[in-house]
Amino acid sequence: MDYLNASYRYVDELLPSIEDLNSDFLSTDFLTVEGFDFLDISWFHFFHVWLFLFMSSFILIALSHIYYKTYPEVSEGLIKGKRVLIVIAHPDDECMFFGPTIVNLTKKSGVDVHLMCLSEGNYYGDGDIRSRELLSSCQELGIPLSNIRLFSNGHLPDDPLVDWDPEIVASLISWHVEAMAMDTLLTFDDRGVSGHRNHIAISRSVNVLLSENRLPSSCKCYALKSESIFLKYTGFLIVFLKRKHSNVYVSSHTDHKTIKNAMSKHASQYVWFRKLFVTFSSYCYLNTLVCPQI
Ligand SMILES: *[C@@H]1O[C@H](CO)[C@@H](O)[C@H](O)[C@H]1NC(C)=O
Repeated sequence: MDYLNASYRYVDELLPSIEDLNSDFLSTDFLTVEGFDFLDISWFHFFHVWLFLFMSSFILIALSHIYYKTYPEVSEGLIKGKRVLIVIAHPDDECMFFGPTIVNLTKKSGVDVHLMCLSEGNYYGDGDIRSRELLSSCQELGIPLSNIRLFSNGHLPDDPLVDWDPEIVASLISWHVEAMAMDTLLTFDDRGVSGHRNHIAISRSVNVLLSENRLPSSCKCYALKSESIFLKYTGFLIVFLKRKHSNVYVSSHTDHKTIKNAMSKHASQYVWFRKLFVTFSSYCYLNTLVCPQI
């Protein structure tokens, strides 16, 4: 017991009191560690930072080359169909994740891009606004308004804690593929890109459709590959790593601007971390399409 008391007292003495926290925590004293002043960043330190960044990108490139040689992606290559249905879960998924693909396809003549969004993104109760934002974003990306299907269905709430019923999602998708004579279906892969449960639910439903042969044989399925944690935030660096692959859509400088403009149409969502996302997320520069893994 004495021992415990002693150790508590020791911790107490180490912890600054609340008043100390308020006054001293933000003072520059706190940033000085034994002989190194973090605020005194001279050109010499900058040089080290750049050297570090340069070396780490070099190592990243080398590692990923080894990785892709070891684990090749199972893919059909790029989309060859003319009537493409992209299924997303929430307004803004289209430009946050599928931007390079959508911009490439909408610029191609003879390709009709359709979008199916399974929820209004009503998690914070602003589904109305977000639905309208989706329409503006699609206009920016080149998807005609008549090609957008937006669902507001009590069974499919925008909620990272709810597992959507795969049967409801599967029926919605298969009905649309048939009714609108789609020859291509594209959605999330089984890791859901950001890991959101609603994304994964769509992928699971497509796997149900495939394993039960419920899609017309003329319809080819693709999934957007979830990049590894190392590649997710490499921004345009991913283009250097993967541009030679046969299953990637790369966005040009103007394409990236289009994606950024589309993202800015989601004004209610366009907060600082999403602005950072557009710059640092590799999905805004490159999309890797793979075969759904049944
Ligand atoms: C679409 O992507 C393909 C394959 O990367 C490329 O050859 C083509 O130029 C792109 N088209 C447009 C309009 O960007």
